[in-house]
Amino acid sequence: MTILRTLTALAALGAPLLAHAAGDAESGAQAFRACAACHSLVAGEHRTGPSLATVFGRRAGTVEGFARYSEALRQSTVVWDEEALDAWLRDPAAVIPGNAMRFRGLPEAPARADLIAYLRAVSAGKLAPPKTRALPDLKAVDTGQRVRAIGHCGDTYRVTLGDGAIFPFWEFNLRFKTDSSARGPRHGEPVIVGAGMGGDRAQVVFSAPQEISAFIRDACP
Ligand code: HEC
Repeated sequence: MTILRTLTALAALGAPLLAHAAGDAESGAQAFRACAACHSLVAGEHRTGPSLATVFGRRAGTVEGFARYSEALRQSTVVWDEEALDAWLRDPAAVIPGNAMRFRGLPEAPARADLIAYLRAVSAGKLAPPKTRALPDLKAVDTGQRVRAIGHCGDTYRVTLGDGAIFPFWEFNLRFKTDSSARGPRHGEPVIVGAGMGGDRAQVVFSAPQEISAFIRDACP
């Protein structure tokens, strides 16, 4: 009896969830590529859009730790079930007017069904979320990526790195960013990232906005 019950439970677990859903979760994983630039399926990992790890059955605009919801989404009473997701993915602007998701919509119903089956499977823990490229840990970079000084003269920034190397950048090609997350740089220890080393542009990442202008000196060589 116990064995039978166990077997039944195992069969239920192992049964392809695709059989129960209208869409095909495997194809949905492909379709998710259209979303991956803005959404992660790892819980707590917010990008331009909120993590969709637990989207199924949740009220719109309520994921913890996502600070960029529009008023429209926060005020919405939509609960993300199959029907609501289908309508949203067909035409986001029609479902919640004034929302901030810059996405035209997926006109093909089968593609939406696949995608929804996939989101449901991931939400239920039946499929693993795709591995996302983790942002680098800027506290753990080499000396050669640490920025010791930045001088500005005319239209040029001169960046001195921790190993003593100096790189000049046309001012329009050097970006300044902040990363206040746990993986961001230490206070007062900005880090250079991007194609700067080989190319003509780069980004300097600080831990907080106040550091930026305090760090840059007016200095002509
Ligand atoms: C260009 C970036 C971008 C793309 C591409 C994108 N989204 Fe979004 N998405 C957002 C943003 C930003 C929000 C928050 C919108 C708001 O607050 O008005 C959002 C919100 C959502 C929500 C509501 C989440 C919640 O917590 O209530 C869902 C569901 C969603 N997106 C699904 C998708 C799916 C599925 C795709 C791919 C078909 C997709 N999105 C493509 C940026 C994007």
